[in-house]
Amino acid sequence: MQQLLAPINAFLGCETPESWIQAAKKPEQLHVLLIDHCNCELKAAQTAMMMIRKYAIEKSSADILKLWAKPYEDFVYSQTRDAKAFLNRDVKKNDITADLVASQHLAVSADLLSKMIRLIKEEFHHFEQVLQIMASRGIAYTNMRAGQYAKQLISHVRTHEPLTIIDKLIVGAFIEARSCERFAKLAPHLDDELAKFYTSLLRSEARHYQDYLSLAEEVAGGNITERVEFFRIKEAELILAEDNDFRFHSGMPTVEVLLHKTTK
Ligand SMILES: [Fe+2]
Ligand SMILES: [Fe+2]
Repeated sequence: MQQLLAPINAFLGCETPESWIQAAKKPEQLHVLLIDHCNCELKAAQTAMMMIRKYAIEKSSADILKLWAKPYEDFVYSQTRDAKAFLNRDVKKNDITADLVASQHLAVSADLLSKMIRLIKEEFHHFEQVLQIMASRGIAYTNMRAGQYAKQLISHVRTHEPLTIIDKLIVGAFIEARSCERFAKLAPHLDDELAKFYTSLLRSEARHYQDYLSLAEEVAGGNITERVEFFRIKEAELILAEDNDFRFHSGMPTVEVLLHKTTK
């Protein structure tokens, strides 16, 4: 575990502050933590899908991706969702990705496609795992506003290619690395089932961070240290800034959050 975490901790600009862990381990915050975690897994899959739709597959394959995401999106966006029915749904064809047609858009398209497909499969699986734990604890999935973290990071992505894709990949690396760091920090404070689950997620999230970073380097075809440093500072600023919301990637909880006065 220390071997997995050492490069992640070296990559991130700061550790998760103790005050965030204090807020996160409160039993009354558990439903917020799990629902937001669930959303993060779906967002991670959707973001990777957008990356391959834009940079790695032929337009004709876009519908295959849509079909893949449909059950998850239908569940999340429907008002009459039923977690048990969703989890027990009949999955007819497990690997629709074999039908995707890779594009020659970028020299790294094939690598991007294979890494992102694996990532999407894992994020969808994590989504279902979180939902399963929630269902077993009687925590219903509800629509919850996303935190500012990812949105703020994405706001710094440069707007012309290939700088856009390089920045998006670096942002992906930071989000995955932070998730990994937080799972490790949280695990000792949670009950056995959640501690085991969060520890089990470390390995894949650590690989996702590495995949994003190596893809960014491949696309750039040169040194990206300066840009990584730019995002390292921006990311650490968000983690160390006061935050009125409590979320999986939120900043330092305000007094209101610590007193559990904000729930939305
Ligand atoms: Fe995940
Ligand atoms: Fe991930």
